Amino acid sequence: MSSIGTLFRVTLFGESHGPGVGAVVEGVPAGTKVDLDAMRHELARRRPGQSKLSTQRKEEDEPEILSGVLHGAATGAPLTILIRNTDVDSRPYDATRDLPRPGHADFTAWAKWGAARDHRGGGPFSARLTAPLVAAGALARRILGGVRIAGHVVAAGGIEVPRELTFEQILKADAHPTRCADPKTADLIEHAIMRARSEADSIGGVVECRAEGVPAGWGGPGSAGLESELGRAMFAIPAAKGVEFGAGFRAAGMRGSAHNDPFEVDAAGKITTRTNHAGGILGGISTGMPIVFRVAFKPVASLPRPQDTVNLSTKKPAVIETKGRHDPCVVPRAVPIVEAAAACVLADLKLLAAADPPGGNR
Ligand SMILES: Cc1cc2nc3c(=O)[nH]c(=O)nc-3n(C[C@H](O)[C@H](O)[C@H](O)COP(=O)(O)O)c2cc1C
Repeated sequence: MSSIGTLFRVTLFGESHGPGVGAVVEGVPAGTKVDLDAMRHELARRRPGQSKLSTQRKEEDEPEILSGVLHGAATGAPLTILIRNTDVDSRPYDATRDLPRPGHADFTAWAKWGAARDHRGGGPFSARLTAPLVAAGALARRILGGVRIAGHVVAAGGIEVPRELTFEQILKADAHPTRCADPKTADLIEHAIMRARSEADSIGGVVECRAEGVPAGWGGPGSAGLESELGRAMFAIPAAKGVEFGAGFRAAGMRGSAHNDPFEVDAAGKITTRTNHAGGILGGISTGMPIVFRVAFKPVASLPRPQDTVNLSTKKPAVIETKGRHDPCVVPRAVPIVEAAAACVLADLKLLAAADPPGGNR
């Protein structure tokens, strides 16, 4: 229920205001080097309080390895990562236990689990659980070797990057606090985020992710396909509301003659395509072209302003004004999360492909 993957399987656990959050990662090949600094680097990219654009909750996010590693390498046994919660302030949530925040999972958690639920800070629905996902993503990247994965913000608050960027440009997205790799758009987005914050509001946005170096033949038809697996992982990220691959929803308005990616042979004798409207996926299987997808994130729910709700006990109308610490726009922090989720899915598909090697285009 809280897992993704078949051979490389990541199970997340914990709550926002519990002792900690973590991941049990199964299927890390024995002998794989476990690089804690690489894990810390990715966690630092996700960490709250990195800039004036994100929530001021401060977390150390130090990963502790509880099992599955000996002398810096995976033993092959389940690998458990624990990240303790250190900056927990549950007081703002006690007064609002019966008041579901509009747009958050408080109401559905109550509908499903009733009074037993952990209401503090969104409990298991909190984006805090994406910290261990990011740690697991660092392990996945190690398994992926030559596959490079990079994400960037392509839209926020209705402002869009007007052109396609190169992979090398995307790799530099971290240079701006918005993680938008187009400098002009980045400044506009930064302004929009600051304005939303000053107006006690939030804005959504879109993260694009590309994976370069995935050979043709990973994935499979139907629900085992790359789109299904990546989609499942992306929709498990809190606030994700849409996923599109390649030309995505734009494809619906294109003609086949414009959308089809003509085949050709490259200098090394490999079959490739001239364009990549397919986003590197046909029939759920990688084409060998870059895998390209975008994830739409909604504007986050918790706002420091009065919002109409209903008291779950009395069923009477009520007003809630959230007092916790929140992100006015999550997309800058969502970039390393989307990359990590993609890395976990691709590492799984790599291991599956090794067990059932691709036939052609080698
Ligand atoms: C990095 C990140 C930070 C988030 N921070 C907040 C936040 O401060 N306030 C909030 O209401 N939601 C926040 N969310 C989103 C909620 O966790 C999410 O909307 C909620 O769990 C309901 O799930 P759903 O939106 O996927 O339906 C964040 C999401 C991400 C990815």
